[in-house]
Amino acid sequence: MKIPTANISPYPEEIEQWWWNKANEQWPDAEEPKIVRMLQEEIVVQSDRFNKERHFTPKSYGSRELSLLAYGNFYFPRTWNHLSYVLAEALELREWNPPRKGPLNILDLGSGSGATCLAALRSFRDRGVENPIELRAIDYSGKSLGYLRNLHSGLYSLWPGSKLETKRLDLCRNLSRGHEKKYDLILLGSTLNEIIPEDEPEIYVNKLGEVASLLKPSGVLIVVEPALKESCQRLHKAAAMASEAGQVHLHGPYFNGKGCPLVNVDSPFHSHEVRSWKVPEVAKKINGPLGLNLVDLKFGFVLLSKKPPRRFEETATVFRLVSPVNKRRGLYFFVGIASDGLEYAYEIQTRDLESGDREIVERIERGDILEIKKHLPLGDGKRIRIPNARAIETLFSPR
Ligand SMILES: C[S@@+](CC[C@H](N)C(=O)[O-])C[C@H]1O[C@@H](n2cnc3c(N)ncnc32)[C@H](O)[C@@H]1O
Repeated sequence: MKIPTANISPYPEEIEQWWWNKANEQWPDAEEPKIVRMLQEEIVVQSDRFNKERHFTPKSYGSRELSLLAYGNFYFPRTWNHLSYVLAEALELREWNPPRKGPLNILDLGSGSGATCLAALRSFRDRGVENPIELRAIDYSGKSLGYLRNLHSGLYSLWPGSKLETKRLDLCRNLSRGHEKKYDLILLGSTLNEIIPEDEPEIYVNKLGEVASLLKPSGVLIVVEPALKESCQRLHKAAAMASEAGQVHLHGPYFNGKGCPLVNVDSPFHSHEVRSWKVPEVAKKINGPLGLNLVDLKFGFVLLSKKPPRRFEETATVFRLVSPVNKRRGLYFFVGIASDGLEYAYEIQTRDLESGDREIVERIERGDILEIKKHLPLGDGKRIRIPNARAIETLFSPR
């Protein structure tokens, strides 16, 4: 079992330092503890807004310097990493081949100060994609777009050969009207849930279709949403409806164009990733007394394209983990959604594991895609016994 199968490049320290310097420049006479305290107080407000109130207006955080600096120093590295994971999946598992000649055209909707789009630029350059990149970033917060422009030009060596154009616009407006250009990659990073209120599922589906109409025939749309159950369920329902209506094909997180089966059942699990990452020091410092869970990187996503998805053989033995790896009474067990679109429970007896195997099994993360080479169906066939760790192959386990 190979872990990792794909490398996620670390969040650049230059960016962490850039955001910290911006906070210090904003309050040149304040000592560090005071700056940290101000950022902490703002993070409490933002955390409640993201996780409890879920009501957003142009003033929510995009119009005040303190809000933008708190986001930049605390949330920016998280949403940066969300995109890095999903883009790695598009490139390394889903067989997306961005053009290697001519400019790569990227559209970021609700870019804010740029965590999602700049992570894309960095990922391409890290992977040796050298063609010019033309990035168009849209947000209704002019101040956020100002930070994006400064960060893009200030640390240009991280994304050489890229051009940035920003536009201030309300994404509630119809985007396809007057938008002639088509894109290789469109990004919606933690934004769709802010644009469309929760009680408007039809508008949500229409917006996905509208955005997908801006894709080139082989282009890819990445939508990342917060890991909250309601946000993820809503995203997966909408993506399945847009796919059934023929507006777009579903490439991920599951297989063969199939949607998330968990949206229709009462399950303790819902589709989202729980990834490990290196928490930046500044975020740790701000988190201090707040005690928010920084260690787990949680998010939901869908990967969409106009072109049909990569085909996987329809079987119970290729699957994505939707639960943690649990251990009880001599068993490791976890739940997965398989390439036939169904949910299965998988288990390995600890007594079947050789020395060193336990550590390997415990390194499997929610969101990893595995293939079981040998197995034994138990009961109604929805429980799968894996004979030993050697029977597990990792198809996608980015770290
Ligand atoms: C949670 S932030 C995400 C920012 C960035 N995409 C990231 O990944 O870090 C949501 C962004 O969506 C923008 N936004 C929310 N509603 C919007 C709307 N109706 N029109 C334009 N931008 C909007 C906000 O200004 C904010 O920058």
